[in-house]
Amino acid sequence: MSAGESRTATAVAQPNIALVKYWGKRPDDPHNEPAVGSLSITLGDLATRTRVTFDPALERDACVLNGEQDGPGSARMVAALEALRREAGVALHAHVESENDFPTGAGLASSASGFAALVTAVDAALGTGWSPGRRSALARRLSGSAARSIFGGFVLLERTTEGRESEAVPLLDAGAWPLEVVVAVVSEGPKTTGSTEGMERSRRTSAYYPAWVGSSDADLAEGRAAVLARDFEALAAVAESSCMKMHAVIMTARPPLVYWRGATVECLHRVRELRAAGTPVFFTIDAGAQLKAVCLPGHAEGVAAALAEIPGVGRTLVSGLGAGARTVAEPA
Ligand code: DP6
Repeated sequence: MSAGESRTATAVAQPNIALVKYWGKRPDDPHNEPAVGSLSITLGDLATRTRVTFDPALERDACVLNGEQDGPGSARMVAALEALRREAGVALHAHVESENDFPTGAGLASSASGFAALVTAVDAALGTGWSPGRRSALARRLSGSAARSIFGGFVLLERTTEGRESEAVPLLDAGAWPLEVVVAVVSEGPKTTGSTEGMERSRRTSAYYPAWVGSSDADLAEGRAAVLARDFEALAAVAESSCMKMHAVIMTARPPLVYWRGATVECLHRVRELRAAGTPVFFTIDAGAQLKAVCLPGHAEGVAAALAEIPGVGRTLVSGLGAGARTVAEPA
């Protein structure tokens, strides 16, 4: 391939949901190193598809995200491209087209699948030969949760000691324990405070933040053991605890942040009632109002029906677990 030719590739990545949460960065780290480890599941039925073309004819980067040119999210995407270009030692500008097949307001971290797909497409277009671990570390620099969407199934992102870069590792294949996820969509509006700002405010101002960080290694070990043993009850216990601890830190920041709406709390109670009545399901909530219910195979439909009845729940989405970020053939 000559230097004058354009180079293109398309990648698909899927969003993930953390069961042991990432919330907080190491202060003054230039590479977005998390202060705590996290454990997630990659979803199978929702995806971001990203096409990247490096073209010598381009004078600047251009991004079309969900059909919109230079819209919200473009500046962060261009900054990401800049960082990846530097890493690859390439000077060409690029055209990026990225589409989610799930609603952006549904509280599913589109930055996770978006940046995992971007890194994977850039790697393929430029032929850099980054390993999956390297792609995970590069995705993490762009958005912490994106590191995990490089892999499928159950994924672990451990925090590292100073001076070392963290990268996610696959823990268990999706097929080995095919859990199901129901998203109860409570609020479709954009969240008022993004994760990056929310976690920084938590770190600086919540009296509970040191306790959150201090107990994170134990939570991660418990979550890891529960996944490897496929112990649903144990996973439910640590996941709900990690979620509630994270939100306690968020709510005690100054000024306080509350991502929940009333329906979020009603969903939480409904999930616990269902579990008490014998349905294998637990909840988790991210930096938004949506509640995610995780259940054993065969229970998603019943859980979705129960959550859909709650006033304030606009709709529900159901997904199984899926694969890591990968390149796909270009349309002919
Ligand atoms: C609540 O990965 O969006 O979803 O690294 O600043 O981009 P940045 O943060 P981001 O935070 C995700 C926070 C969370 C929990 C999680 O996914 O672990």
